Amino acid sequence: MLIVSNWKAYVESREEAKKLYALAARLSQKGHTLVLAPSAVHIGVLASLKKGQVALGAQDVSTQTRGAHTGDVTAGALRDAGVSFVIVGHSERRASGETDGTIVEKVRRVLAEGMTPIICIGESVRDLEGTYLKVVRKMIESVLSPLTPKERTQLVFAYEPVWAIGKSGAEAIQEEDLTEMILYIRKVLGEFLPGKASEKIPVLYGGSVEAGVIRSLAGGTGVDGFLIGHASAEVPSYKALVEALL
Ligand code: PGA
Repeated sequence: MLIVSNWKAYVESREEAKKLYALAARLSQKGHTLVLAPSAVHIGVLASLKKGQVALGAQDVSTQTRGAHTGDVTAGALRDAGVSFVIVGHSERRASGETDGTIVEKVRRVLAEGMTPIICIGESVRDLEGTYLKVVRKMIESVLSPLTPKERTQLVFAYEPVWAIGKSGAEAIQEEDLTEMILYIRKVLGEFLPGKASEKIPVLYGGSVEAGVIRSLAGGTGVDGFLIGHASAEVPSYKALVEALL
C-alpha cells in the first residue's frame, strides 16, 4: 500500500522529524511504500539522511516557476531537494482560496518536474440526495479535463471527505461508504482514461485514519493506500498505524 504522512504543521523540530524518518526507514522494509510530507523547511534535512526506502513528499507547491516570486516554493526546488510526491488541492489549502484552476496549474508543474501529484478530492458534507457524489465528480473532472491523456495516467488521487478530517478514528468513514466511493471514483476516472489505465491510478483515503481503523479500511474496500494527518505526526501513533497493516 501507499502510505503518505501529511505532517501538516504538527512537526516543528528537526529532532522530531528525524525520529519519524528513522522509524519510517525501519518500517519501510516491510513492504509498504511510505512517503513523508514534512514542513518544506525540513525536506532538505530528511533528504540528507537517505535511509531505507522512504520517499519524500511536499504538502503544497507554487504555481510559479523560477523567478521573482517571494516566498514561493517551486516544483523545481522541490524536485532538486529530493521530493517525489506533492500533495495538491488539500482541503486546508482549498479553504485558503485554492481554486480548481490553480490546482491544475500545480499538477502540471509537478508533472513537468517528473514528480507525482497526490490530488485531494472530497465533499464537505454528506446529504441523502447524493449531491456529494456530484461534488466529487466535478473535482475529478476539473483536474482531468485540461490534462493530456499521458498526464492523466501519472496521478494519484486521495479521497478525503472534509467532514472526516482531523477527528478520531471512530469518526473516519465507514467501510461500506469507502467501498462505494472508491468504486465511484474509479468509474469517473474510467470516463477519462482508456481501457484499464484508470485501474492503475492509486486511489487513497484520508480523514481520521488511526491505528484502530486502518486495517478494516484497508481490507476489501478497494483502497490503494492512505493519506494520514495527525496520527502520522507522532512516533507512537505512526508506529501503531503502520504495524497494524503488517
Ligand atoms: P487527519 O488528516 O488524518 O488528521 O484527519 C488527514 C489529512 O487532512 O490529510
